[in-house]
Amino acid sequence: MPFYVTTPIYYVNAAPHLGHAYTTIAADVLARHMRQRGEDVFFLTGTDEHGEPVALAAEREGTTPQELADRNAARFQALMPPLEVTNDFFIRTSDPRHERKVQEILSRVRDNGYVYEGKYSGWYCPRCADFKTEAEIAEGNTCPIHHIPLLWEEEENYFFALSRFQEPLERLYSERPDFVLPAHHFNEARSFIAQGLQDVSLTRKTLRWGVRVPWDAGHVFYVWFDALLNYVTALSFAREGEDLLGRFWPADFHLIGKDILKFHAVFWPALLMAAELELPRHLFVHGFLLSPAPEGAGEDSAAQAAVGADGDPAAVEGGAAAEAGAPVEAGAPGAALEKMSKSRGNVIDPFDIVDTFGADALRYYLFREVTFGQDGPVSQAGFAARYETELANEYGNLASRVIAMVVRYRDGRLPGAELDNELAGEFLGLHERVAELMDGARLSAALEEIWQRVRRLNRYVEERAPWQLARDPEQAAELESVLASLVEGLRVVTVLLAPFLPASTERLLASLGRPELALAAAPFGAATEAEPGPLAELAPLFPKV
Ligand code: MSP
Repeated sequence: MPFYVTTPIYYVNAAPHLGHAYTTIAADVLARHMRQRGEDVFFLTGTDEHGEPVALAAEREGTTPQELADRNAARFQALMPPLEVTNDFFIRTSDPRHERKVQEILSRVRDNGYVYEGKYSGWYCPRCADFKTEAEIAEGNTCPIHHIPLLWEEEENYFFALSRFQEPLERLYSERPDFVLPAHHFNEARSFIAQGLQDVSLTRKTLRWGVRVPWDAGHVFYVWFDALLNYVTALSFAREGEDLLGRFWPADFHLIGKDILKFHAVFWPALLMAAELELPRHLFVHGFLLSPAPEGAGEDSAAQAAVGADGDPAAVEGGAAAEAGAPVEAGAPGAALEKMSKSRGNVIDPFDIVDTFGADALRYYLFREVTFGQDGPVSQAGFAARYETELANEYGNLASRVIAMVVRYRDGRLPGAELDNELAGEFLGLHERVAELMDGARLSAALEEIWQRVRRLNRYVEERAPWQLARDPEQAAELESVLASLVEGLRVVTVLLAPFLPASTERLLASLGRPELALAAAPFGAATEAEPGPLAELAPLFPKV
């Protein structure tokens, strides 16, 4: 079965930070899971290079938008291998092949009668590239995300007749309760629609940095329409001489952050209907990675910054310090937490984390620490703690101990040993449960299911104490059964952990002599190799940092 997963395409106005790496890693975990299932996977990510956010940043830096885009797109691209991300293509929206497709599709939308000329007037945030509706304006006409004054814009442009999709969108939301996941974001999108849809600007006249409107050279397309279409256009040129649209469209999952819900959950399905294209199967909306407010951030800025685009207050801790108006140091106990973002200056560089802890640890930590779909804080100290207590002590140690015992007591081989039925019972149905959670992008819940078994195996070692059995020759069969069951349990959790920890699980499976990754081989007792090779000693999976 084809499976198509996408990330948002990232603005190239600055270098990537951990918040960007987050969605990309999530999509990679999903893509790897689907490959384990045996699906035909296409995984797309890329950069959003047009529009005001990029044009303004280039102006500030005294360079051209294209130069800035080239520089930062390269940084986003360079992030993929160190994060072990296996995207099938990286789209850049300044690619002329994308531009031509955008022109073609939006001309079709116009031919279908959904485009008209008009005059826009209203409040606009140049950093979001978003025309705000009444409900989206914060106090004093400011942007609720960037806390900058909104600009009053009046402009002749072309409109997309979004209001004509009021009823079709209402129908979509009543027929497909899993169109947007998790449910609270489904409800949010639905109530946005219920407030009544207004037509939106499709083009901009005052901006030059964008895809030229083919029927009026004085305009470029509004960046959000150009950007959303990447999910479709990429399929037409990702593979030389091949159009992948028939094979992979509609997308199975668009993964997005909660700040871009309106565009994906309202504009995007309407645009697809107008262009006579099928709608994606699911949007999965994740929360924000939070990090301490920068030094000196007082009550107002910190509390405001934690409010998402949806007006949804993110978790704010350390309220006492903030309330007293005391200056808050980044990382200080009690510092207010807010969305990690370049403009607030509280970002963590993913390259730093990977250099210290490795990509696997980062990938694991992100979905263990913050429930995927909700907001949550991340920190260097948090990384260090999970690395040591969970990855090194619980998992890495289990692996080294089990392998060392099999090598020491049985020269690395356990031919014909019986598996422990009781332990097998505790693994029954595990791979199905994990697969079901992963299929719904419930990455943290899946990880929790697996980790319970990692802990169970550690208890099993203590309960059965193989080192004691090894002293008594009469218990030889018992010892072999305990060891073989540990090896099998370890193999099963390792196959299931592979999407999260690709590099270390590959090493571990190789030293278990059972490299098979397919989910079909994941049930306890289902290893496909009848006679696995001898177990090989393994250097620590998660060495001391
Ligand atoms: N270019 C648009 C998306 C167009 S998609 C057709 C955009 N770009 S962005 O670079 O600003 O953000 C991209 C994604 O990164 C968003 O999903 C956003 O939610 C996510 N994140 C940026 N900072 C984040 C955190 N601190 N935490 C989690 N995700 C965050 O929007």
